[in-house]
Amino acid sequence: MSLSLSADQPAVPADADDGVWLECIECGETFAPFEDVRYTCDECDGLLEVRYADLPTFADFEGRGVWRYGASLPLEEGVTIREGATPLYEVPRLEESVGVEALRIKHEGMNPTGSFKDRGMTVGVAVAKELGVDRLACASTGNTSAALAAYGSRGGMETLVLLPAGKVAAGKVAQASLHGARILEVDGNFDACLDVVQELAAKGEAYLLNSLNPFRLEGQKTIGLEILEGFLADYDAVPDRIVLPVGNAGNTSALYKAFRELVQAGELEEGEVPKLVGVQAEGAAPMVEAIENGADEVRRWDDVETRATAIRIGNPVNAPKALPGIRETGGTAISVTDEEITAAQRDLAGEGIGVEPASAASVAGLRKLRADGVVSDDERVACLTTGHLLKDPDAAAAAGRDPEPVPADTEGVLAHLQGE
Ligand code: F0G
Repeated sequence: MSLSLSADQPAVPADADDGVWLECIECGETFAPFEDVRYTCDECDGLLEVRYADLPTFADFEGRGVWRYGASLPLEEGVTIREGATPLYEVPRLEESVGVEALRIKHEGMNPTGSFKDRGMTVGVAVAKELGVDRLACASTGNTSAALAAYGSRGGMETLVLLPAGKVAAGKVAQASLHGARILEVDGNFDACLDVVQELAAKGEAYLLNSLNPFRLEGQKTIGLEILEGFLADYDAVPDRIVLPVGNAGNTSALYKAFRELVQAGELEEGEVPKLVGVQAEGAAPMVEAIENGADEVRRWDDVETRATAIRIGNPVNAPKALPGIRETGGTAISVTDEEITAAQRDLAGEGIGVEPASAASVAGLRKLRADGVVSDDERVACLTTGHLLKDPDAAAAAGRDPEPVPADTEGVLAHLQGE
């Protein structure tokens, strides 16, 4: 199987361009990377992956941010707003209360538009330029649309975003709007938006920049590379486990690909690869269902609901890449309630780290797995927090303390503070 951790480096096909090509994960068909617009396999409609003739080792990386990892990306430079190089925070109180040897928070909310999506867009929008397209599009629960709008405008291109009406957090819509995207509010959920935008893309109306696009996931690999370099610097070892929220399972797929490539490059032992743990909200947990049932495919959930609107997704399109990632690394998937998500959002806030609800799912999932004994007390763990608190100000205000009205004089304020 091409997605196995022990897969050999594939032979370089004739259609490779400068050592880069696209390969179908289902049937192995190969394609030139930048000649035609293509999102899935022409032969079997399977998902595509970018492949390289030469895979880098850590010594090949230099500089800062996503483009530090240019040697593992399909282009040497992108349309950039200085994405990546996000903090890997220490959280001593949370580490103690969860009860693990080490807990670090990789806060992707610290990217230019406030989510990890920027890492994918800096690559994806550059590939769009290479392909010569002029209109970009995505379906989104919000963050992808904010990132696409910003990187599209940076690249001087037109952007179109399809959002589920009434289900996108305020900060994200504001970003897409100000960066100049045309916002189409769809009377349906995210999965319906993705169905429509895929058809628009197939008709050649726009270039699709959802995570179905294999180039976007290349940029997202850099989250994994940064976490590994951070742990190697601080602990002289890679983490035992990485816990992350799952929607379309793009990050799960991207992190797994980053690790597979390091194994193929001889930089990482198979047994060292961190266990990947996907966390979903209880009301939108088709990946968890598939992992629990040992299923080869994910069943689409038509009705999904969660306060964590970023991961309100019933049809994770990258499941064929992500399921092997979870299984081959010895990881798992778990669901958490909205209440557990909000509690974890408060825990992170108590360490000064402001995240949106979907992000907190990772910490909520870790806590649950630790309580269940799946995670042991000697593990070093990284939790991914995918988006910034300000993305969803309503959720933050609802989870936080209420403002207290006081009179406009010091005596009155003092009296209030003394509880009179
Ligand atoms: N966390 C946040 C904050 C997200 O915005 C998303 C996805 C995820 C997690 C899930 O990541 O798809 O790689 O499993 N948001 C997409 C969007 C769907 O449109 O912004 P995944």
